[in-house]
Amino acid sequence: MSNGTDSNRVYIFDTTLRDGEQSPGASMNLSEKLRIAEVLEDMGVDIIEAGFPIASEGDFEAVNEIAKVVKDSVVCGLARSSRIDIERCAEAVKPAARSRIHTFISTSPLHMKFKLQLDPEDVHQAVIDSVTHARNHTDDVEWSCEDGSRTEHDFLCRTVESAIAAGANTINIPDTVGYAVPNEFGALIEMLFNRVPNIDQAVISVHCHNDLGLAVANSLTAVNAGARQIECTINGLGERAGNAAMEEIVMALRTRHDSLPFTNNVKTEQITKASKLVSTVTGFTVQPNKAIVGANAFAHESGIHQDGMLKNAQTYEIMTPESVGLTESKLVMGKHSGRHAFRQKLAELGYDLGDNAIQDAFKRFKDLADLKKDVFDEDIVALVDDAVVRSNDTIQLVSLEVLCGTEHQPPRARLSLNIDGDEVQAETTGDGPVDAIFQAIKELTSQKQHLQLYQVHAVTEGTDAQAEVTVRLEENGKTVNGQGADTDTMVASARAYINALNKLIIKREKTAPAALSA
Ligand code: KIV
Ligand code: ZN
Repeated sequence: MSNGTDSNRVYIFDTTLRDGEQSPGASMNLSEKLRIAEVLEDMGVDIIEAGFPIASEGDFEAVNEIAKVVKDSVVCGLARSSRIDIERCAEAVKPAARSRIHTFISTSPLHMKFKLQLDPEDVHQAVIDSVTHARNHTDDVEWSCEDGSRTEHDFLCRTVESAIAAGANTINIPDTVGYAVPNEFGALIEMLFNRVPNIDQAVISVHCHNDLGLAVANSLTAVNAGARQIECTINGLGERAGNAAMEEIVMALRTRHDSLPFTNNVKTEQITKASKLVSTVTGFTVQPNKAIVGANAFAHESGIHQDGMLKNAQTYEIMTPESVGLTESKLVMGKHSGRHAFRQKLAELGYDLGDNAIQDAFKRFKDLADLKKDVFDEDIVALVDDAVVRSNDTIQLVSLEVLCGTEHQPPRARLSLNIDGDEVQAETTGDGPVDAIFQAIKELTSQKQHLQLYQVHAVTEGTDAQAEVTVRLEENGKTVNGQGADTDTMVASARAYINALNKLIIKREKTAPAALSA
């Protein structure tokens, strides 16, 4: 990708679907990934890292399908330095209008010695071979030095120079373990600009992890030092403490343009929608005080602040809620609203669904409107996202009845599931109604997962609000989050547990993360 004429243009590289998905519990299925890719493309993200094709058949398919539908963003796949990884990646991204292969290898003494068990000379040769090989498949090749921030400067300069000479057009410097601090990380980027003779032939990128809470600060400092691509994720999702949060990066660039005079292509008004979708799909709820997308980010509780806000919003608000796509809760429709109005509302909320999906969503909307007098935008978003979350599930909820109360009877659940086309039923008791439901599901699916988290939150206000339930299950060291939404908290709980089980089915086929290290 060329820097064009605008030397202050910063490229936004989103890795929610790759590094983000590597966070424990955050696995996503194909339709969820496609939906997120579509939202990222609409937002104006320059490069979408869609996955790690060698990791599993599912990862390959997701990258491949995203490559077929995304037109405006570059679609990128990740590959270690081996031929087989690069070839699999090349095949996956091939259908894209613009494709990129992102290949990486560790360069720090610690990683080379203990993880790779390779000499620096072998690593240097692998850099040249992998980039050359990737360039045989596409003109757009990115090379990353894993653990770059802990790499010796001489060796870093040498590998970066060789990667560029072999044809890499983007050089990514990761702070893989989130160890760097801003002045040091900025100086590292500056050092590369001063010492690597062919550095002007590549875009310099940064990829910062948030272990010390410095990922965004490190990324912005790197841009000040000359980097022109930032790798980031929605809601800061990612390995361990996550990656630099895209919403924070682009809002800092927008709000503090006076101090950070750089441009980018992201439509910030789409941030809230993207954040909600990623949170729903992964089950990673956003902390209320999270910058930009937290529920309290634009809330003013104290009297002094409220008074100031009424006099002039700028007293306590450095950016407007509208600039991140946050609008007042709007009453949308009730049970008399028709199909046409519903279709229009979906378009207004940014959904572009096929006829069948609209049909399903409309039916669910009507069911909801029967139960709930006021249907808000948030309800529609929860309902449609819930349908997306569930669209490819092998195990589906057919019906549920729960008996519980103050009489001293053990709570009882009667539940039917459809498993791969067969309907099965169970009736069980439990320590509480939710426990009874989960026991029934376990009985029918003969699964032995460990429940790590059960969490409920209301989509809107009021006692008729939809409940959004998150369930986290663990099996053999792999964790997944399932989601369910319904006005009935018990039904939402069953849906969330079943959704998590469906995700475990996908996750079982994935290669263990440790085996994926370069
Ligand atoms: O954190 C890291 O180093 C990575 C690389 C693969 C870019 O995710
Ligand atoms: Zn990473």
